[in-house]
Amino acid sequence: MLARHRHRNERLRPRRRLAGDTDLVKAIVMREHGGPDVLELQETPRPEPAPTEVLVRVAAAGINPVDWKVREESWLPDLMGEPPLILGWDVAGTVEAVGYGVTRFAPGDRVFGMPWFPRLARAYAEYVTAPSRHFARTPDALDDEHAAALPLAGLTAWQALAGTAGVGEGDRVLVHAAAGGVGHLAVQIAKARGAYVIGTARAEKHDFLRTLGVDEAIDYTAQPFEQAASEVDVVLDLVGDDDYGLRSLRTLREDGLLIAPPEGVSDAVAAAADRQSKRAIHLLVEPDAVGLESLAALVDQGRLRVEIEERFPLAEAAQAHERLQHGRARGKIVLTV
Ligand SMILES: NC(=O)c1ccc[n+]([C@@H]2O[C@H](COP(=O)([O-])OP(=O)(O)OC[C@H]3O[C@@H](n4cnc5c(N)ncnc54)[C@H](OP(=O)(O)O)[C@@H]3O)[C@@H](O)[C@H]2O)c1
Repeated sequence: MLARHRHRNERLRPRRRLAGDTDLVKAIVMREHGGPDVLELQETPRPEPAPTEVLVRVAAAGINPVDWKVREESWLPDLMGEPPLILGWDVAGTVEAVGYGVTRFAPGDRVFGMPWFPRLARAYAEYVTAPSRHFARTPDALDDEHAAALPLAGLTAWQALAGTAGVGEGDRVLVHAAAGGVGHLAVQIAKARGAYVIGTARAEKHDFLRTLGVDEAIDYTAQPFEQAASEVDVVLDLVGDDDYGLRSLRTLREDGLLIAPPEGVSDAVAAAADRQSKRAIHLLVEPDAVGLESLAALVDQGRLRVEIEERFPLAEAAQAHERLQHGRARGKIVLTV
């Protein structure tokens, strides 16, 4: 009993350093706000898992538009704090150690997640620590790179369509930017829930949209999308400016729902929705182990696949940002660590 007690208390104390222990790990540090060249490979202290946290050895880190928005100081600057800081939320890797009280994972388990969001997770690094319930087990069918591409985009689509909108059998769902990181997962999630799915993308991406299962693909460069889609129950607007919001409302049936993750709902869009007896809401994705498990189940059932447009080594994070910010990605971009 006494021995067990001592053991428990020891786990609450920081791990004692042993000779030869590596304290420093590689990470991409954002030196200051600015262009991609502010991202620099540096060495930083390895994090230690606090009680309830796991230490994950990162194998791959997904990149999302929010990363470059933080880099440019255009997204929640007060919450992000002053640089230098480490960007990145999407993680896949292997549990290296568990903190006091963790029961869900053991060293050696493969996990994926979007920990801490919207607080910094510091995922562009060799190690990350976060509460165990910000992770889920990686499905066997996904390698680490594909698993790292899934959490933030997949949870956004899942929380919007399955959670907020409750999309079900026969619903008509319009997904803007359907070939992008969030969009290509949203299309598949809506299809898996029995919806009729309309997606917008340039014509050269329509074959890709069809492999995801869209029922109708609209080339938004060839015609106004609101002329091609009507009586829609839910619009997931991943373009998200005022113009797209106002035009998307016109595609909705009465009481239909517009979800606008990128910029939120402006006063103009909210007022137009009210006038037309429709609903418009903003959504900010949250860490969600149950959501991750739902995504993993869809992957296991063969109903959700993750498309990677391009991989970059960690040291080339700046090039990866340039590629994503260019805006034409088909699926996701990941860093291999
Ligand atoms: N609130 C939240 O929690 C949350 C979460 C995730 C993402 N977001 C935001 O949602 C947006 C989308 O994220 P993402 O990761 O999917 O971005 P992404 O992967 O960079 O999106 C790229 C896609 O956008 C398409 N696109 C660009 N302009 C378009 C237009 N006018 N109409 C239709 N498609 C268009 C491109 O296809 P084409 O080449 O065919 O144009 C491309 O496939 C970003 O602004 C992101 O910050 C918000």
